[in-house]
Amino acid sequence: MRDNMTWFGLSFFFILAASYFSVYGKPTGVHLRNMDSFISAVEQVENSNPGLSPLTLVRALRTTAGHDDPLTIHYLGASNKLGDSKTLETAILNATSFSFFDKASHHVVTDYGEERGVVLTPDGTTVALAPLLLGIEVGLKAKMEAAPTVGMFPLTLARTLGLSFLSLQDFPPSHRLGPDGCWDSVVQPRVFKLARPPTLATNSLINGGMDGAILGTLLSNLSASEQLQNLSTTLKGYYSYVLPEGQGLDGVSHPVSPNRREISRSILEPLDPHKQVIETLKLIWKLEGTEWISLDTNVEKSVKEGLQAFVYKYWDCPAIIPRCQWGAEAYHGTPVPLSLPLAFLYIHHTYQPSSPCLSFPQCSKDMRAMQRYHQEDRGWGDIGYSFVVGSDGYVYEGRGWHHLGRHTRGHNSLGYGVSIIGNYTSVLPPRHSMDLLRHRLVQCAVDGGRLVANFTFHGHRQMVNYTSCPGDAFYSEVTTWNHFKEIDSEKQKKEKDKQVE
Ligand SMILES: *[C@@H]1O[C@H](CO)[C@@H](O)[C@H](O)[C@H]1NC(C)=O
Ligand SMILES: *[C@@H]1O[C@H](CO)[C@@H](O)[C@H](O)[C@H]1NC(C)=O
Ligand SMILES: *[C@@H]1O[C@H](CO)[C@@H](O)[C@H](O)[C@H]1NC(C)=O
Ligand SMILES: *[C@@H]1O[C@H](CO)[C@@H](O)[C@H](O)[C@H]1NC(C)=O
Repeated sequence: MRDNMTWFGLSFFFILAASYFSVYGKPTGVHLRNMDSFISAVEQVENSNPGLSPLTLVRALRTTAGHDDPLTIHYLGASNKLGDSKTLETAILNATSFSFFDKASHHVVTDYGEERGVVLTPDGTTVALAPLLLGIEVGLKAKMEAAPTVGMFPLTLARTLGLSFLSLQDFPPSHRLGPDGCWDSVVQPRVFKLARPPTLATNSLINGGMDGAILGTLLSNLSASEQLQNLSTTLKGYYSYVLPEGQGLDGVSHPVSPNRREISRSILEPLDPHKQVIETLKLIWKLEGTEWISLDTNVEKSVKEGLQAFVYKYWDCPAIIPRCQWGAEAYHGTPVPLSLPLAFLYIHHTYQPSSPCLSFPQCSKDMRAMQRYHQEDRGWGDIGYSFVVGSDGYVYEGRGWHHLGRHTRGHNSLGYGVSIIGNYTSVLPPRHSMDLLRHRLVQCAVDGGRLVANFTFHGHRQMVNYTSCPGDAFYSEVTTWNHFKEIDSEKQKKEKDKQVE
């Protein structure tokens, strides 16, 4: 009898566990806060509701997440007023997925700086689900109704930015945005802690807004004859792609998440961000009956300054994967501050690892291996480079903007050392990786006062006589770049050689 009871208890547990694992795919007992888990949960809902339209699904998710505020309703209508309410969350989402979506998409920052309602995407960045899903809903609604999109900019970014700019008017504009944060573990992400006190426009909300605008625009752009894909398929194409060997992002023609800054800029900048933010704020006040706020004479100025900071930080600058995300060890000893701005940028290849890294897990692993080698075998304080460029679409933070690196003997205090992962003796890095370094990182450094405007690029091999770094192929490419200079002794030597000839 007793045995039977136990057996019954156990099998009951196994049934629960089996349905649990089939939903989340990972035998871990706790919901992982990553995009793959979210996509699996979406897929499970789609599989158990054949023929479910993606618009009905995102609306059900909106109800679940409680995103029915006046601005959203103004543009999209109430999520639970779609006629047959039985087809909505009650019927579509079973209790387990309801609880998953409820936790996963409800955006909150707790008093102790934990940001919820965000997920880690496979590219290593963190995205808030609320603005992502709203952007998708705007696009799907336009597509289904064959009408122009309305509310895309307001619901994905303008509201977030405008309210953040106004709420922190007494702070410098760059402090009215962000911050980024770090996961407790990038393999099993559960808790996301912000790096400093939050604004109303955390990095995750901005990333989610950009992604929402991109995917929503893409969906609304589908021609009438094109069949709408499942939500899970749309998300997978954008977040769970595989980059082709040897080409990286050069080999991808559809939008993928590492390009969110460039693509969202190309979609949103032509829509006049200043006008969008001001009009969104006015609409929010009207809907809330608080129009008196618009009499505040600082509104225009706050929005103008805030947007300048936004454009610099999120559209001009590339996304940089912070140390905590790639699993860096702490600096051994005390880092030495640089005195800015610097006048040089020295270009390296890593040689080893010898292959370009094509994914966040691979690039992070390479970063950890180089740091281990520099700290343990060479006895340095930290990974030598200031920044490292992967071929996954991201720049990785080494010693960063403010600390003396160890990359170019005799010149470390004069310039940043930036390396692209790979051996470029006989092949070039992917075009995208070179552009990230040569245009985006450098523009960000100059505009941020870290590099002088007339800075100089040098290859590592020009500064010391014992290396061929950054590789023959890459070096000869670098010699064609603006800001590249031969060094005087090279010039003198060449002139001498000429005279001898
Ligand atoms: C959407 O379509 C418009 C006009 O047809 C086009 O200019 C734009 O590039 C498209 N956007 C995307 C993201 O496909
Ligand atoms: C780097 O590439 C060169 C040329 O292809 C090759 O000779 C060399 O062995 C490579 N080194 C490493 C560490 O892969
Ligand atoms: C760079 O610009 C600064 C001031 O604008 C000037 O003093 C300096 O000589 C310039 N350096 C070079 C290498 O042209
Ligand atoms: C490299 O340069 C150093 C210092 O300029 C010099 O002492 C050394 O002989 C050079 N080595 C080679 C191999 O040219």
